[in-house]
Amino acid sequence: MTAAPRRARVAVLISGRGSNMAALLAAAADPGYPAEIALVLSNRADAAGLAHAATQGVPTAVVESRAFRSDRAGFEAAMQAEITRAGATIIALAGFMRVLTEGFTARWEGRMINIHPSLLPAFPGLDTHARALAAGVRLHGCTVHLVSAGVDEGPILAQAAVPVLPDDTEASLAARVLAEEHRLFPAALAWLAAGRVALAGGVARVDGAEAAGGSLVNPLPSAPRLSKG
Ligand code: GRF
Repeated sequence: MTAAPRRARVAVLISGRGSNMAALLAAAADPGYPAEIALVLSNRADAAGLAHAATQGVPTAVVESRAFRSDRAGFEAAMQAEITRAGATIIALAGFMRVLTEGFTARWEGRMINIHPSLLPAFPGLDTHARALAAGVRLHGCTVHLVSAGVDEGPILAQAAVPVLPDDTEASLAARVLAEEHRLFPAALAWLAAGRVALAGGVARVDGAEAAGGSLVNPLPSAPRLSKG
């Protein structure tokens, strides 16, 4: 019998619903996936994702950010202790709503990824779908990136684009983007866990990743109409 290849141990950090976390758990349920979820860690005890992780038999922990008030270093030290205890070597931020200090991001440089619901560098921060609608962009989407010190900044690993439709609401657009998040995040985590990500001049390259063919154009250009008379 040959030993199964060692899988990278990942801590998934959440603050709420946890649908992206659930997508990672589902991917990691396949023994051939290069990462295993060693810990789901939340900064809120009421995060819905914690219950789902527990039903999947994944260890969970809570470090209440509220308990630390403005002591961000103390909050992060408590999180780091949980992450170390779990033996995680990669962090996946999956809807984790606290801004991390430079010390923490430097410690995890190249080993921490985030999923963000926009085509970065457009619309960093909150309310991305409402802002995309207000800006009138025709293409919107999501980004997985390595985390650096700035909020929603860092080398991009992958992006998925979706069209913005004329009668979209914030909710309908968010749902279209979220479906892509659930495909993109597990793929990007697998690349990082398998050691396929290389950095050159602040830009990430994924070894062996196939470039998407074609283009997404929205609205579709149509043939010019003949004017009458
Ligand atoms: C997602 O839209 C993610 O891109 C953003 O926060 C949201 C979290 O959703 N960072 P969920 O908790 O994964 O369902």
